[in-house]
Amino acid sequence: MCGIVGYLGSRQASPILLDGLSKLEYRGYDSAGVCVMSDGVLKVAKAKGRLANLFGMIDGGKAITGTYGIGHTRWATHGAPSDINSHPHIADAGRIAVVHNGIIENYIKLKEELILKGKHFHSETDTEVVANLIEYYYDRFQDFPRAVRRAVAQLEGSYALGILCQDLPGTMIAVKKESPLIFGFGEGENFIASDVPAILKYTRKVVYLNDGDTVIFTKDSVRFYDAFNDPVERVPEMIDWDISAAEKCGYDHFMIKEIHEQPKAVKGTISPRIRDGRVVLDDVNLTREYLENLKKIYIVACGSSYYVGCLGKYILEKACRIPVEPILASEFRYAEPVMGKDTLVLIISQSGETADTKAALEEAKRHGARTLAIVNVVGSAIAKEADDVIYTWAGPEIAVATTKAFSTQLSVIYLITLHIAEMIGTIKEEEYQAIICELLKLDQKISLCLTPEITAKIRYYAEQYFKVHDAFFIGRNVDCGICMEGSLKLKEIAYIHSEAYAAGELKHGPISLIEEGTLVVAVATVDSLFEKTMSNVKEVRARGAEVLGITTENFETEIKKTIPSVVSVPKTHPMLQPSLTIVPLQLFAYHVSLLRDCDVDKPRNLAKSVTVE
Ligand code: M6R
Repeated sequence: MCGIVGYLGSRQASPILLDGLSKLEYRGYDSAGVCVMSDGVLKVAKAKGRLANLFGMIDGGKAITGTYGIGHTRWATHGAPSDINSHPHIADAGRIAVVHNGIIENYIKLKEELILKGKHFHSETDTEVVANLIEYYYDRFQDFPRAVRRAVAQLEGSYALGILCQDLPGTMIAVKKESPLIFGFGEGENFIASDVPAILKYTRKVVYLNDGDTVIFTKDSVRFYDAFNDPVERVPEMIDWDISAAEKCGYDHFMIKEIHEQPKAVKGTISPRIRDGRVVLDDVNLTREYLENLKKIYIVACGSSYYVGCLGKYILEKACRIPVEPILASEFRYAEPVMGKDTLVLIISQSGETADTKAALEEAKRHGARTLAIVNVVGSAIAKEADDVIYTWAGPEIAVATTKAFSTQLSVIYLITLHIAEMIGTIKEEEYQAIICELLKLDQKISLCLTPEITAKIRYYAEQYFKVHDAFFIGRNVDCGICMEGSLKLKEIAYIHSEAYAAGELKHGPISLIEEGTLVVAVATVDSLFEKTMSNVKEVRARGAEVLGITTENFETEIKKTIPSVVSVPKTHPMLQPSLTIVPLQLFAYHVSLLRDCDVDKPRNLAKSVTVE
């Protein structure tokens, strides 16, 4: 949440900062701002709302001269979205400017102390406290790095900070603790950013900073210090993906681009990990002995990643015969779950920086459980902290509503399932081979869910139903997990009240909400449960619901006897079917969102990575 960027070089800084912010807007879009050292003073421009407002205000950056500065895009935590609460924040005497991603937990106490020392505050933010604290120490020591060190030592919470001092031209300091921050090396210029896309146009050579790191840099030099303030070497990595991965490339929105990238992404996750017809997980160290003694698997995550966990329960338990419990990270961390050495905790996170998920990981480690993270963002905190990590390799996902990250997380669940089941001997060779064969074709079958015919059909149904006030998604077994994700997509980007239920649960309460015209999306792909779900469909139709059915091709004729509105997807092995079933639901949410004139990629009140509790 919140994106920060910093540039220090010889070019005009503001357009570079705005360009970087445009790649970080997914992290928050309540306001945006830049601060550039211009003619010897820290010049600030900031505006509530989308980056476009700031862009217009400073003529795309041309209006502010100066060759170094910091920028910020905000997801409001302390204080409403407003011009005054926008970053960068300038300290009382105007000597220090700060951009911040994270939360300062002890800011009230620090603020009170600073007020007693004569500092004045203008915003409601925790960040303004950081700026004033640094300035307070700067006033005492007249030493910018020392002032930063002293101030940071007093901060409790999480922070990635970009800091400028008016009295020390040509120098920037950045600090990282529990919020992501990278340093980018250029030729005669250097960068900081919350994420790679912000600076990828200018450099591929980056360092993922460690917690506690401080960087002091000019355009030609850089010094890294660790948490103990000792000078350290940080070895740069070369980014090997292209900037086009983080651009729309002709699509109207990132979400639809990312939906269409799913075949490629899923293939990229699966095929390097299948060799000679067997799953090979080089990345993990789960020995046969450990797996044979495994008593329980928790799958811990938030949002869509949690729904992957709900699907994982059905998939892993069926194949591996080990109890699996999906649990929301925000609950797990405080629930005192029973776990120890014989517990495997799967942590799923696209961003690798979700606050609750990270805390849950730490809790699991504290109890001696083995942790295996499924993460998309390379070098992220969760990836670094888990005992093992399997990267989903989905490439950057920009739309707030996840699609390709969800699909690749699910693909990793299949791989882990086959790996464990084979190791402990709970799967027959014939079944194993049947799944591998379908896994290798999964990308092609996902492509068949994205044909112009299917898209047109879904668009048609979106036009029929986009005005509904309420929607219910019902299904059984893995279809229930897919309903949860489909329902979240719809509420998240189309602002329609939507709930997902196990189809058999309807008559235990929720059916009282069904009335004339209520939309029910019924997902029925599990062979053995098809008729059961159809009974539930008949029950809601009898009470006036409009039903949209999602099924597999083999059931199309059958389902149409009950429901006229149907989308069918190709059939695959039952374990892998959710990867196909989800696609029409993603497309449905996308088209409904467009028809309701919502901001598809940046839905209200949300941000891509949720680094607050
Ligand atoms: O980065 P994470 O996977 O940890 O994020 C978890 C959720 O915040 C995320 O899946 C969220 O629910 C998505 N926006 C849903 O589309």
